[in-house]
Amino acid sequence: MSSPILEARAVTRSFRLPRNGLFGAKPVLHAVREVTIEVAEGETLGIVGESGSGKTTLAHMLMGLDKPTSGAVHFRGNPIGGLSKSGLRELRGSMQIIFQDPNASLDPRLKVGAIITEPLRSLHVPGDHQTRLLELMDAVGLSRTAVERYPHEFSGGQRQRIAIARALAPHPKVLIADEPVSALDVSVRAKTLNLLQDLKEQFDLTVVMISHDLSVMHHVCDRVAVMYAGRMMEVGPVEELYDCPEHPYTQTLLDAIPRLHGGKLVPDDLADTPPQTIGEALGCSFADRCTLVETRCREQAPSLTPLESNPSRAAACHVGLAATRSSGGNKT
Ligand SMILES: Nc1ncnc2c1ncn2[C@@H]1O[C@H](COP(=O)(O)OP(=O)(O)OP(=O)(O)O)[C@@H](O)[C@H]1O
Ligand SMILES: [Mg+2]
Repeated sequence: MSSPILEARAVTRSFRLPRNGLFGAKPVLHAVREVTIEVAEGETLGIVGESGSGKTTLAHMLMGLDKPTSGAVHFRGNPIGGLSKSGLRELRGSMQIIFQDPNASLDPRLKVGAIITEPLRSLHVPGDHQTRLLELMDAVGLSRTAVERYPHEFSGGQRQRIAIARALAPHPKVLIADEPVSALDVSVRAKTLNLLQDLKEQFDLTVVMISHDLSVMHHVCDRVAVMYAGRMMEVGPVEELYDCPEHPYTQTLLDAIPRLHGGKLVPDDLADTPPQTIGEALGCSFADRCTLVETRCREQAPSLTPLESNPSRAAACHVGLAATRSSGGNKT
């Protein structure tokens, strides 16, 4: 990979929770643990994982909206912790996020035009803001007359277009889209994903796309990173990771993509055991749900290691699905 535009180096984010009784230490929740990930300029990297796996927490640290408890985030090779006020403003212009909840992120008291141009004002972006606004309305496929209306007058899909236009306003280099389609009707999901693809080309963006659903990632991502209980489980080029997952958790996610069984759409139930992130767990966090579990898996957490057969891929698993395939124990 050429030098990454954005990278997290061993970032951890822990939250101290209120104690249960009067005495004892406050429990610590590890939302993200020792995550290292690089984002190459121009690529679309998907981050996937069940609810609570730490995707949003990681995204906020990548954006500089939240500080890691340990580890560091680098943008174009420079650490973003400790940036001056003007340095932070410049960073905000270079990296923008579409927040997970499109309704909560649009101020209902402001007209669409004011919402979209707000980052231009707050980040002191030079140039004619009205011209930029009209350009953005065209780019996201909203009527120019919409600038005088309020967010509640629009459908979910159109509100997401408003949020996208606002994120693109200051000419960012990196766009982080946190579950950009999960709140939308199925009928507008594909349209919104296509729009994001087109905008990526048009504005020369690097995209980090977050979703709990691997089927969303398939057609839009170059590489996919799989998170579970705050840890990175597997990273690799999308086709290879889908065709031949190495981590049993990736296989579980793939198995959960709704499929047609006898003409009926049957989604498998994923969240029977939610990821455990409180306190210090010794071994692999997926051990309790894993079909390949061995004694060593409960004793030591595996680190994310490049695959011998293909260094563009990496997995955090002591056993690995490739080994079971070659020994005839293929479960796929
Ligand atoms: N401010 C906070 N204080 C305490 N715990 C938090 C805080 N923010 C996040 N968490 C916890 O950290 C874990 C990871 O949360 P996060 O929102 O990053 O997950 P997620 O993968 O984005 O989930 P979802 O798919 O539901 O959006 C969860 O257990 C969450 O409850
Ligand atoms: Mg989230």
